[in-house]
Amino acid sequence: MDFEAFFENELGKLQTDGRYRVFADLERHRGNFPRATCHTLNGPKRVTVWCSNDYLGMGQNPKVIEAMKCAIDQCGAGAGGTRNISGTTHYHVLLERELADLHGKESALVFTSGYVSNWATLGTLGARIPGVVIFSDALNHASMIEGIRYANCDRVIWKHNDLQDLEVKLAAANPKAPKMIAFESVYSMDGDIAPIRQICDLADKYGAMTYLDEVHAVGIYGARGAGIAEREGLMDRLTVIEGTLGKAFGVMGGYIAASAALCDFIRSFASGFIFTTALPPALAAGAVASIRHLKVSQSERDHHQDCVRMLRARLDERGIPHKPNPSHIVPVIVGDAAKCKWISDVLLDSCGIYAQPINYPTVPFKTERLRLTPTPLHTRADIEHLVEALHWIWSRCPLAPAVSERGYLASL
Ligand SMILES: Cc1ncc(COP(=O)(O)O)c(C=O)c1O
Repeated sequence: MDFEAFFENELGKLQTDGRYRVFADLERHRGNFPRATCHTLNGPKRVTVWCSNDYLGMGQNPKVIEAMKCAIDQCGAGAGGTRNISGTTHYHVLLERELADLHGKESALVFTSGYVSNWATLGTLGARIPGVVIFSDALNHASMIEGIRYANCDRVIWKHNDLQDLEVKLAAANPKAPKMIAFESVYSMDGDIAPIRQICDLADKYGAMTYLDEVHAVGIYGARGAGIAEREGLMDRLTVIEGTLGKAFGVMGGYIAASAALCDFIRSFASGFIFTTALPPALAAGAVASIRHLKVSQSERDHHQDCVRMLRARLDERGIPHKPNPSHIVPVIVGDAAKCKWISDVLLDSCGIYAQPINYPTVPFKTERLRLTPTPLHTRADIEHLVEALHWIWSRCPLAPAVSERGYLASL
């Protein structure tokens, strides 16, 4: 086989579909979030970032940066091993305590990313609980899907956020089979929120355990930033709460919080936990500082919500269509991969605005979008600039599905 030709041919198909991913080469400006330098073919360009998952700007928080620097000064760079073989530092222990306390659970376990925590935990529970059936929301994240696939257990996909469908499927399953319901709180692409209480009610009725991914909610919702389940007083009803340290907490890593026995079980049996080098101590130290800060500081969350409201109101005033939802994620649906990429390019090249296009398979075909993520650090002037730039683009190229990319370019 001509391997190179195969690779190039497959990449060519992505390019033809407008789905080829181009990374923005960014350098964030320390202490000046959301500003960054974007290195383009025409040289460096100052941009305002509108699509970061550092939702609260904690990656630039002085306490977080200082904690990371101190940890490097104290212990050096890497962890030096897996958690079992010399990789557990005191920072990891403190971090797991902090996370267990955050979610009101007996224990927590840290992984190298949110992806790995979902994959390893769902994979291990699914593979090792005899006869377990996992009921997975249809829009669950790739990391959950891959974990469930890896488990190779019985799985049932229920319609997204559809309680009736979930109940029909729970009722149809073998009453004796152990069951687990796996779902997210805030769904990252549409920004909608799961009916957690009702899902827990169904779990109680059918004797299922619950697995909740709060990746897009931790830090942001709840009085101490533990997520939607905290906000709704439901943390004790969830068997496992999974989260990331890489989004609103501004650093990197993932975790589960659950009973001591469940965390110990995953610690002892999950290959994605056992056979990989631990997070560098500096990351663990930064995460501890970030979590501690957000447990007591409400101002980031308040300003974040103000900024989200302001952006939505200005988009409405200018007639820019965006998907309504009860969260902080503002999806501006374009519905065409090539157009979405083109709009993103114009925003970057002509307006100094970075909003990455989101295409299939991250979202379904024909729902390609700009996923705007306001933060507490975007100013009123930033919002005005973004909305006027979008209005300028929209007024020159109404998003009629039949118009080709070339047509849009010609119309400007
Ligand atoms: C719902 C969900 N879960 C898990 C992850 C993975 O988290 P991490 O980026 O920490 O690997 C993501 C990443 O975007 C996500 O959207």
